[in-house]
Amino acid sequence: MKALVVAGARPNFMKVAPILVALRRSGDTAVLVHTGQHYDVRMSDSFFQDLELPEPDFHLGVGSGSHAQQTARVMETFEPVLQDVRPDWVVVVGDVNSTLACALVTSKLREPFGCRLAHVEAGLRSGDWRMPEEVNRVLTDRLSDLLLTPSRDAHVNLAREGIEPEKVHFVGNVMIDTLHARLDAARARDLPGRLGLERSGYAIATVHRPSNVDSAATLEIIFRALARVAECMPVVFPIHPRTRKQAESFGLGGALAALRTMDPLGYVDMLSLTDGAAVCLTDSGGLQEETTVLGVPCVTLREQTERPVTVTEGTNRMAPWPLTEEAILASYGGALGAGRVEAGTRVPEGWDGRAAERIVRALDLPQCEPGERRRHHPLSVNPHERGWQSGRGSLAMAR
Ligand code: UD1
Repeated sequence: MKALVVAGARPNFMKVAPILVALRRSGDTAVLVHTGQHYDVRMSDSFFQDLELPEPDFHLGVGSGSHAQQTARVMETFEPVLQDVRPDWVVVVGDVNSTLACALVTSKLREPFGCRLAHVEAGLRSGDWRMPEEVNRVLTDRLSDLLLTPSRDAHVNLAREGIEPEKVHFVGNVMIDTLHARLDAARARDLPGRLGLERSGYAIATVHRPSNVDSAATLEIIFRALARVAECMPVVFPIHPRTRKQAESFGLGGALAALRTMDPLGYVDMLSLTDGAAVCLTDSGGLQEETTVLGVPCVTLREQTERPVTVTEGTNRMAPWPLTEEAILASYGGALGAGRVEAGTRVPEGWDGRAAERIVRALDLPQCEPGERRRHHPLSVNPHERGWQSGRGSLAMAR
């Protein structure tokens, strides 16, 4: 089986790394395409090093632009690659513009080439159509032949949208495979210690969502709230390029003086800092998931989350919306009061470090035609796959 795997932006790299390893292990052929949506050393190259990703077979070099420009550039440059490679599967992950662009191209070439589309992290929904990621998710799922979900709530979302259940397979959270694989390296690096920070004695914060950083008023509220948290404990704040640009254009740079700001971090450094934090304040989807597995309390600075299991089964809580300084501080206080839980003790089903194996098994299964009902699908009913706790144990022991 030949799979063409697409990565474009920072959160994609952690998801494709274990899939590439699992494909290689099972003797399948993997072709890696990097769209170049993210291109800075700190947003892309450092992830390739940390995650030991192979050089991409194709680099599309699309760069930044408006949504239409970026999506169109990926489509134009991806089409000839697909025509050249002619894989059995195109595997797209997550919800960035590159995900949808490659999904659209694949869906139009499905007939002549017989290649099919698999979406990893299918079925997540925020219900907020103002988020570009929500548009990308819903449309990518609609176009996909195989929808691989990270959590059971995704199945409810997909059923509500009329997606044929035989296309949908629960595989668990592949990003957590990468966390398991790199946690020892992150702890050995001890970035908190190197920065003179005490374990559980500081907060880690990130924001980059357009809904937070493209509004001067909202960004100022967040910065002011973080400055007040910094009166209690150091706040480490790696700054996403979008956030830096907006803070400068709004003249809010000075509001960052109270925080320990730094450039975006590589994967292992960020994991090292997150693992050692007392609390995390963020609008990142990935951090909501990682803090849940690490047992670090998290405050999500968004109106809603497409990852509700991090709240119901993990350590995440939503800051009251609309954001105010007081609301953020109250949530911070609540999270701090709740405290850390031992890593791996409250982990959603399938967040066990073995999702990539299940993804490759799903790709290797004979696929049924749309409408053909498969009652006893091996992946959906295999009782052995419910022993997720094996991953928890090893994580807890690693601490
Ligand atoms: C994108 C994803 C978002 C994801 C985020 C993670 C979409 C719609 N959004 O948002 O879901 O959570 O990545 O980081 O796909 N820039 C650089 N260097 C880079 C990349 C970007 O300086 O390597 C700057 C550019 O000024 C660019 C801006 O950041 O215009 C935004 O980049 P873009 O890829 O458009 O979206 P993100 O905000 O990064």
